[in-house]
Formats: sequence, C-alpha cells, structure tokens
Amino acid sequence: MLLELKDVTVPTFDKKHIIIEDISFGVIEGSIHAIIGPNGSGKSSLAYAIMGLPNYELSKGKILFNGEDITDLGVTERAKLGITLAWQEPARIDGLSVLKYLSLGIKNKSNIKEQAVEALNIVNLNPNKYLNRRIDETLSGGERKRIELAATIAMRPKLIMLDEPDSGLDMIVIEDFLHIFNKIRKLNMTILLITHREDIGMVADYGTLLWQGKSLITDKFPEVMLHFCAKAGLKDFCKRTLFQNDNACFGEDYIDKIFREEGEQ
Ligand SMILES: Nc1ncnc2c1ncn2[C@@H]1O[C@H](COP(=O)(O)OP(=O)(O)OP(=O)(O)O)[C@@H](O)[C@H]1O
Ligand SMILES: [Mg+2]
Repeated sequence: MLLELKDVTVPTFDKKHIIIEDISFGVIEGSIHAIIGPNGSGKSSLAYAIMGLPNYELSKGKILFNGEDITDLGVTERAKLGITLAWQEPARIDGLSVLKYLSLGIKNKSNIKEQAVEALNIVNLNPNKYLNRRIDETLSGGERKRIELAATIAMRPKLIMLDEPDSGLDMIVIEDFLHIFNKIRKLNMTILLITHREDIGMVADYGTLLWQGKSLITDKFPEVMLHFCAKAGLKDFCKRTLFQNDNACFGEDYIDKIFREEGEQ
C-alpha cells in the first residue's frame, strides 16, 4: 500500500461538527483509485486531510504513507515525501511564463527544460506553443487547468491527488483523460482521483464511496460505482449507460440484488 487511512476523522475547525468520520481504506501503489460521492460528502476534505492542510487535522485515526505514520507531519513535509494535490480550482499565479512556473516544482535542476517539455506533452499541450506563454487571462480555462496538471506532474510526486480534474472542462473528452492518466501511470505515480463523472471514474482500478462523511465501500471501481448508483437511486441510469455493452461487468440479477440491499439500509 502506498497510502493507508485508518479510522480517519476530521472535525470542523470549531470542533462542533465532524466533516469525515472513521474513514479507512488503502491505495495500492501504481493504481488509479477514485473517490466518488455526492456533493458535500467529504471528498475534498479527505484530500485536504491527506495533504495535511491546516484546519484539516485529524481528531482520530492515522494516515500512513509508504508504511510511515505521517499523521503529525505538516503539508511541506508531506509534499517532500511525494504527496501532491491539484486543486479543484486552479491557483492563479499570473504573470510567470509557463516554463518558469513548471520549473518551480522541478527537483532535478540540471535539465529543467526537458522535464517541462515532457510534462506539457503529457497533458497534450504543444511545448513550442506554450513554454514561453505567460500565465494570464489570455489562456483559456482548459489550458490553465492543463498547465496546473503539468506543474504537478513535473514535481514527480509519488501520489497525485486530483480534485475534480474535469471541473469547468467541457471540452476535455474521456480519451484525453485516459491518455493523460496512462502517461502519468507510466512514470510510476499513483493517482487518487476525485470525480463526479462516472465515465472518468471508469478509468480507475479501485474506488471508495463516500457518503455523508463516511466511507461505505472500497473495492474494484465498477463495484463501487454500482453501490453509488444504488444509494443514489440511479437504477435506470446504471443499467442503461454504466453497465451495458462495453461496460457490462455485472448481470441484471446482481445489479438488482445490490439495489435491494442498499434500499433496505
Ligand atoms: N472547514 C470547514 N468548516 C466547516 N464545514 C466544512 C469545512 N470544510 C468542509 N466543510 C463541510 O463538510 C462537508 C464536506 O465538504 P467537502 O468540500 O469535503 O465535500 P465534497 O464531497 O468535496 O463536495 P463537492 O462534490 O461539492 O466538491 C460540506 O458539508 C462542507 O460544507
Ligand atoms: Mg469537493
């Protein structure tokens, strides 16, 4: 396991409420692990707690990274160990050139340009066009998002957490994400993918379903998606789009069984 969460519980800053409670699951090295769940179920908060951001300290439980207990480490120490988070809303670092921006996170300073070119290629931006562009409002939202992702890749972290990488990106199609994720994977990085989009989730190997701050199931992704659909009452959707034709991982009987079980709870 690259990352292990054991009974992770995070209260609000004023300690009056619990945001996420008793969350336990592991992320296998080299895998794509998706976190799914409805709005407000605690996905982003979970990522902040793994990153070690202030105000998201655990009141209970622990987090292990490569077997090491990192529960008491701060965000900088965790980043040094190879944990990164690409934000739901990309940061606004205006005015720098793309090359300069990417170089900030590149560890091996001997061949910065080559590494920046590689990172841009991974996110499908032509380095000849973008390396010397300024990061400002002339870049489209999609371009900024890709540059943000390239900057994360250039850091060569062990774990990349992507919080809604598709948010605001109508034009990034699934094939594009598949291409990007597979290239990231080849560089030995593990991906924790937070997403609303079930088609993007389908590229994941494993998944964890969050529901009202708790983790309900961790399993192979289609199984987790099926439970999500059952909890959310999305039977038609589930049968019609998710688990048909190329995606048919389950028989009708099994789908009905899971819907019955979740309905009974
Ligand atoms: N610092 C905080 N103080 C108080 N409440 C918080 C805090 N951070 C998160 N919350 C609450 O915890 C719940 C989980 O929020 P979170 O942003 O983690 O959900 P999410 O699953 O990422 O949702 P979305 O899909 O909308 O991005 C929400 O009800 C949110 O309002
Ligand atoms: Mg969120």
